[in-house]
Amino acid sequence: MARILTSAVRAVTASIAVAGFVLTAQVAQAAAAGDAKNGEGVFMDNCGVCHSNAKGAPNKIGPNLFGVVGRKSATAAGYMYSPAMMKAALTWDAATLNQFLAGPQKKVPGTKMGFPGFSDPQDESDVIAYLVTMK
Ligand code: HEC
Repeated sequence: MARILTSAVRAVTASIAVAGFVLTAQVAQAAAAGDAKNGEGVFMDNCGVCHSNAKGAPNKIGPNLFGVVGRKSATAAGYMYSPAMMKAALTWDAATLNQFLAGPQKKVPGTKMGFPGFSDPQDESDVIAYLVTMK
């Protein structure tokens, strides 16, 4: 009897754990689903002062970001990167952008990108969704 009870408790515990995991995964997915249309505005407000977003447009304080998703770090033509970015050896996929934008100095210590990160994670998801379409 005790043994049956124990295994019942185990089964319940396991299903709670699974439910918790599924919930966490769903929340993560919801946060990751960015709105590219809104992201364009977020880009203009938060990145546009330092970054251009049009093909062939000149670099500003920061490098041109046209087609940045999938690009290797520190490869925008004609831009002088910091030594830190030069040796970062990253590929700008969505996950890496996520980490970088959340805290540029944390992801690439010594980077000269002065951006503190977003207070609203949805803005970050949206701007990344926009960057993905920018090609
Ligand atoms: C105050 C100016 C400034 C702002 C605002 C800014 N950046 Fe930057 N960004 C830079 C600079 C400068 C660099 C070059 C960093 C280095 O060489 O260390 C950079 C580099 C980058 C890189 C690496 C590009 C490459 O070619 O490797 C990405 C990606 C990036 N920024 C995205 C963004 C996004 C997205 C935003 C808006 C959410 C943003 N930045 C806001 C100045 C800025």
